[in-house]
Amino acid sequence: MSLESEIRVLKDERDAVLLAHNYQRPEVQDLADFVGDSLYLARKAREADRAVIVFAGVRFMAETAKILNPSRTVLLPDLGAGCGLADAITAEQLRRWKDDHPGALVVAYINTSADVKAEADVCCTSSNAVKIVEQLPSDREVLFLPDMFLGEFVRRKTGRKIHLWVGDCPVHAKLRPETLARARQEHPGALVVAHPECGCGSQVLPDVDRVLSTDGMVRFAEETRDPEVLVATEVGILHRMRRLNPTTRFEPLDAGAVCPYMKSIDLADVRDSLARLQHRIEVPIAIADRARRALERMVAA
Ligand code: 13P
Ligand code: SF4
Repeated sequence: MSLESEIRVLKDERDAVLLAHNYQRPEVQDLADFVGDSLYLARKAREADRAVIVFAGVRFMAETAKILNPSRTVLLPDLGAGCGLADAITAEQLRRWKDDHPGALVVAYINTSADVKAEADVCCTSSNAVKIVEQLPSDREVLFLPDMFLGEFVRRKTGRKIHLWVGDCPVHAKLRPETLARARQEHPGALVVAHPECGCGSQVLPDVDRVLSTDGMVRFAEETRDPEVLVATEVGILHRMRRLNPTTRFEPLDAGAVCPYMKSIDLADVRDSLARLQHRIEVPIAIADRARRALERMVAA
C-alpha cells in the first residue's frame, strides 16, 4: 500500500483530521483535510469534532489547537518542528517587559509558546493583527511581540503607540531591501506580494504592492490577472498559488526562503504519528486556561 493510502486508512481508523499549514511540503498539503494560515487552522482546530487532530505545522500551532480544543488528542508528527520566531521571547522576559510598562496591553503574535500567550491580553496572527490592535482602547499603550517587522507594520497602519519586542523570523528577516531590489531588476514589471514578517518592515514593505498573510496570498492568487507575481515569504506557499492560478507566473522573491521547521514533517512522519499516536501535545491546565483567554479574544474579534 502507498504511504498516501496508509495515511487515509489510519486517519479513518483513528477518527483523525489532518491540518496542514501553507508552508508544508506539497505532498503533505495534498493529503490534508484543511490547508491554511495560522488563523484559519486555529479556527478549524477549535471546531474539530474528530477524536484526533494531527497538526502538520509547527509546535506553537499544535499547542494552540490543544488549548482551543482540549478534549481532543493533538499530535505533532515531529517534535523538532519548532519556530525560530517563537523562541525569540520567554514568559520570564515578557513578565519583566510588562513590569517596565505598567498598564500597557500585551498583544502576542500566535507564533509564541503557550506560556508566553498565558501572559498576554490578546493574541493575533498576520491576517488580523491590525484589526486586533485597532480594537484596543486608544488610551492604552501596547506591547507587541515577538516580531518587530510585523509590529512595525501594525504601528504604521494604526498610528498607535506600540512598543516592539526585538525579535524576528530567521526565514523572513533575510528578505531584505537588497533582495527586493535585485528581484525587481530580474523581473521588471512583476507585482510583489510580501508577508508582514519580511525583513526591514519599515523599508521593504512600503515598496511592495501587497502585504498579506499566507491565506491572503492564496486568495490573491485566485483573483489576480497579473502575468507575473513575486512572492516574498516561505516558498511552500507557491504550491497552492500555482495550482489555483496556472496562468500567472508565481516566483519566489528568494528561492532560499525555506523554513526548516515547516519542512521537517514528511509523509512517513504523518503515517507514524497516526499509527503510534505520537507526539501528543499537552499544555499544563493553568497555562492553557490563561492562554485560552488571549486566544479566544482573538478568535472573537
Ligand atoms: P500565517 O499566519 O500568515 O500563515 O504565518 C505563519 C507563519 O509562521 C509565518 O512565518
Ligand atoms: Fe517560525 Fe519563521 Fe518558520 Fe514561520 S517561517 S514557522 S515564523 S521560523
